[in-house]
Amino acid sequence: MTYLSNKNIVLCVTGSIAAYKSVYLASLIVKEGANLRVIMTESAKEFVGESSFSGITHNEVITGYYEGKTELSIDHVSIAKEADLIVVAPATANSIAKIALGISSEPIVGTILASKAPVIVAPAMDGDMFNSKQVQSNIKILHDLDMIISGPEKGRLASGINEYGRMTEPDKLLEEINKIFSKKKDFENIRAIVTAGATIESIDPVRFISNWSSGKMGIAIAEALRDRGAKVTFVHGRMDENSINGVKKIPVLSAIEMKDQILKEIDNNDLIIMSAAVADYRVKQKFEQKIKKEKLSSIDLEKNPDILAEIDNKKIVKVGFAAESENLIENAKKKLSSKDCNLIVANDITLEGSGFGSDNNKATLVHKEGCDDLPLMKKSELAHKILDRTIEYID
Ligand code: CTP
Repeated sequence: MTYLSNKNIVLCVTGSIAAYKSVYLASLIVKEGANLRVIMTESAKEFVGESSFSGITHNEVITGYYEGKTELSIDHVSIAKEADLIVVAPATANSIAKIALGISSEPIVGTILASKAPVIVAPAMDGDMFNSKQVQSNIKILHDLDMIISGPEKGRLASGINEYGRMTEPDKLLEEINKIFSKKKDFENIRAIVTAGATIESIDPVRFISNWSSGKMGIAIAEALRDRGAKVTFVHGRMDENSINGVKKIPVLSAIEMKDQILKEIDNNDLIIMSAAVADYRVKQKFEQKIKKEKLSSIDLEKNPDILAEIDNKKIVKVGFAAESENLIENAKKKLSSKDCNLIVANDITLEGSGFGSDNNKATLVHKEGCDDLPLMKKSELAHKILDRTIEYID
């Protein structure tokens, strides 16, 4: 048995050159034991043949409203009701706009509207098209509709340029599909803010103060929350990578910006997990021009707000981190009470193979009832351990 055994999955293929990848994706999904139905737009047929999909799925491919091949003879309704998951891959700018606005002139949008199944959308288009205000505002609508946006990835596009616009590779899409069916959904209906990465405090147009946070722990937590059913707002500073899908991303630079964005969102949330490494100080005087080195012998600093400590909404579960190089538990306990947190994830940043930049982490979960000392593990595993404990504080 696989996670996909006997699941009804609908693959919607729209008119992009990346449609050739969907044939392989269809084959991967069928191999996992799912019953796959494919719906194609007319323009998708310009890129790939209907018979490739019918051959792989052993099901007829739906291309229009008036074919009536199912028992109901209203294919989009029949398929929509049975669907456990709908995947739109590749999704063109045109199809994204139609999905966002519910323009159901073709069966793909009709099926999505008539279904309660989760939807994964894998955009594929030119990088500038993807970044356009129109596509970005439609993507935001899809996020708000709780759809999972996968990619696009960076790579060589049909135009020859190297940009974000490539459809997520089929193997990675299969992983995302598997995740939907494999995880327990104990965070369903929970809204969470996760912060990640390093804030940046500008000195002048060239220099800044920051820290070594890679953002990996925050990404792992946001992904784990998303997979367990939460609606995640991901407020992040500078990170080594930015490859997270299915969450609302808010990029920020400074601690003040991070605080402002969090305060805008916080009352709509049940939980905040602050894994960001926030700079404790910022430069007192803003230098608009580059400071000449002869004049740069010292910089006046002023204290940044303690974001976590300042969140005083009692309904919100607060999870913080404590990055320590000595007296780990003692310092973590102090942060638990001074920041009024439910849980502190304490890290000894001096341990080799753990912490900043690494894929692994060794942590102790410090809470009012005691401490859970965890072994070194992958950040993705630790993320789930943190959530297993956090769920106990949510009403
Ligand atoms: N934090 C915050 N705002 C700050 C500094 C930290 O919200 N200005 C949060 C971090 O995201 C983390 C927790 O508070 O969840 C602890 O951060 P850490 O850097 O370990 O401790 P500090 O409070 O900055 O104290 P110190 O640097 O003295 O250890």
